Amino acid sequence: HSVSVSNYYKILNYNFEFPLVDADFLENLDDFEIRDDDVFIITYPKSGTIWTQQILSLIYFEGHRNRTEDMATLDRIPFLEYNIRKTDFLNRPSPRLFCSHLPYYLVPKGLKNKKAKIIYVYRNPKDVMTSFFHFSNMVVALEAANDMEHFMKRFLDGNVVGSRWFDHVRGWYEHRHDFSILFMMYEEMKKDLRSSVLKISRFLEKELSEEDVEAIVKQSTFQNMKSDPKANYDEILKYEIGKRTDEGHFLRKGTVGDWKHHLTVEQNERFDKIFQRNMKDLPLKFIWDL
Ligand code: A3P
Repeated sequence: HSVSVSNYYKILNYNFEFPLVDADFLENLDDFEIRDDDVFIITYPKSGTIWTQQILSLIYFEGHRNRTEDMATLDRIPFLEYNIRKTDFLNRPSPRLFCSHLPYYLVPKGLKNKKAKIIYVYRNPKDVMTSFFHFSNMVVALEAANDMEHFMKRFLDGNVVGSRWFDHVRGWYEHRHDFSILFMMYEEMKKDLRSSVLKISRFLEKELSEEDVEAIVKQSTFQNMKSDPKANYDEILKYEIGKRTDEGHFLRKGTVGDWKHHLTVEQNERFDKIFQRNMKDLPLKFIWDL
């Protein structure tokens, strides 16, 4: 089923990052066995994936919280479809934590029977696009973008890894009743990290002491993650994903509304129109300037 289009792979009508994805694994993903206590972080790219990985890792691993264990986040919470560390999923002890950018229709069947919990993180698509624009110019495997105008066209048409943002978010939201799923907004996490940690831990039915919550919040702030080599992906980016230059980081700015520095008035209006056309009828909460 796969076709290589510029720098991504279209498989089963969804764009994957080339060459990190294993097409055979994907085509048989339906049968990938899901355990009741598996937990998935699902996002459209650049929406707060590694942030949520850090939070979950801290919630689940006491040794991460009190810094007695030294393990990269990606080893605690590997990507299902981009298994670059070749983690043996089948022999991982429970509870297994995963993350994924898959659309709702490609995830293993077991998730549909509300086996396993899903945390779906979404973010203002203008900030997603801005983050993605910079990321595309930094990572070898992605197609570089000359300027925002070019990238915006590709993003809005879904000619990027992750395909169309609108389809991803809409798909997951419209099928939410098929899954055990919690929707988290990046902007909400940014505004009140503590409440967000509590919301996530309640959903996961993980009891945390006051001290635990403190430690989790402290270690998952942007500043803290940026300076923590186990959390910031700098090594993985450099040696496993591949960068074009020495510049740039996965943890770039971590702010709300950075799009304002990158979109013209006309681009913003055009974006708004397309957003309205695609998302108007969706009762999902979109409050970007909290
Ligand atoms: P920016 O490029 O806008 O800075 P993903 O992990 O899905 O690829 O998303 C990456 C984006 O999440 C980047 O956005 C990154 O800076 C931001 N991010 C990562 N950790 C964060 C944190 N602790 N707080 C706020 N933003 C964070």
